[in-house]
Amino acid sequence: MSRPLEGIKIIDFTHVQAGPACTQLLAWYGADVIKVERPGSGDVTRNQLRHVKDADALYFTMLNSNKRSLTLDTKTQDGKDVLTKLIKESDVLVENFGPGALDRMGFSWERIQELNPGMIMASVKGFSDGHHYEDLKVYENVAQCAGGAASTTGFWDGPPTVSGAALGDSNTGMHLAIGILTALMQKGKTGKGQKVAVSMQDAVLNLCRVKLRDQQRLDALGYLEEYPQYPHHSFSDVVPRGGNAGGGGQPGWVMKCHGWEHDPNAYIYFTIQGHAWEPICRAIGREEWINDPAYMTAAARQDKLFDIITEIEGWLSDKTKFEAVDILRKYDIPCAPVLTMKEIAEDESLRKSGTIVEVPHPKLGKYLTVGSPIKFSDMKVDIKPSPLLGEHTDEVLSELGYSAEKIKELHAAKAV
Ligand code: COA
Repeated sequence: MSRPLEGIKIIDFTHVQAGPACTQLLAWYGADVIKVERPGSGDVTRNQLRHVKDADALYFTMLNSNKRSLTLDTKTQDGKDVLTKLIKESDVLVENFGPGALDRMGFSWERIQELNPGMIMASVKGFSDGHHYEDLKVYENVAQCAGGAASTTGFWDGPPTVSGAALGDSNTGMHLAIGILTALMQKGKTGKGQKVAVSMQDAVLNLCRVKLRDQQRLDALGYLEEYPQYPHHSFSDVVPRGGNAGGGGQPGWVMKCHGWEHDPNAYIYFTIQGHAWEPICRAIGREEWINDPAYMTAAARQDKLFDIITEIEGWLSDKTKFEAVDILRKYDIPCAPVLTMKEIAEDESLRKSGTIVEVPHPKLGKYLTVGSPIKFSDMKVDIKPSPLLGEHTDEVLSELGYSAEKIKELHAAKAV
């Protein structure tokens, strides 16, 4: 079966997570992604957090599947010559170097356009061009703080908190992938390439849109009804951290289930949605609340929310998180168990859908990864192992027209 991006050649000049997550997605869907890495060391994540001696770390293997690896020292003239040829023959160049690194290497956007006017050059930076922090190097948690996620995550009596989800890294990579596909569509109409840029701050903020909504409501009203601070505590002039509140007008909370005293993840998320009030009362055996004026409307329940949560936790106290969800699903109550990574790794449904995939690897034996979260009716996404460092160097060079003898010379000169 042909894959949608077959025939698109991508120079993958990315490292760590944000850029590699983007190019991995495009490789899954058929693009020929050539990862350009420094000879001898390669992407820093090959070495980071290794758990098997001399084998690429999972940090690398889980973000670079379905790619080819070309080693190239782009600070040598030979390396620059190879990159120049590659640029002339490719459709997209993706990079997430520190600010100015590509210019210093001699491959500014202007130069790239001269070499290939059809090129789409896609970049991730910490902050957008012209931003007063544009010179900063940025990693995940830095972006979460700059993008508004940290100040609005956690509990009101604790410090700003970062999320375990890679809002700064992989999320930015996903935004960049959308940008690249959009630019490819445009190129189909005009024949011209363009520069596509996503900053990590912007990508985080895009996911914190609802918090900017809340800031404006707070400015206008002085309070936010759906936050746990309402109505018992005062609000300052900034959106507070809301703990595990629903946040979108559907009150909810992470609630203790049987065994929570020993198991830190014996919890479910339980949504006390307005229209589900009657089924909730029936499910927890408090039918008398259904028509009680003190409880029957969302407004009446507002100041008793934590008493209601305590009541529900009493009902949950003899049920595991899985038993509780199995009961509540019959009442159409939006809820889910708080799943651990171990439970997710072993989840049969996730394996069946191809979201959790076991990949063979020459040095690791096999490893688990997250497969395509996007499912297609006309394409099965095959997840292939990540390449070893320089595994495809000779193959790519010969495709570029280099003779076997010249390739040997490039190796001897340590340019590749
Ligand atoms: N051959 C020769 N040199 C190479 C090379 C290659 N194949 N690949 C990279 N380099 C060089 C670069 O030219 C650069 O050299 P220079 O600074 O002397 O000009 C150097 O390697 C380092 O690049 P840099 O990207 O600045 O690496 P770093 O380790 O100092 O910083 C980051 C890492 C992630 C902080 C930084 O790249 C960054 O801020 N990127 C943008 C935001 C981002 O993507 N963050 C990470 C999200 S996971």
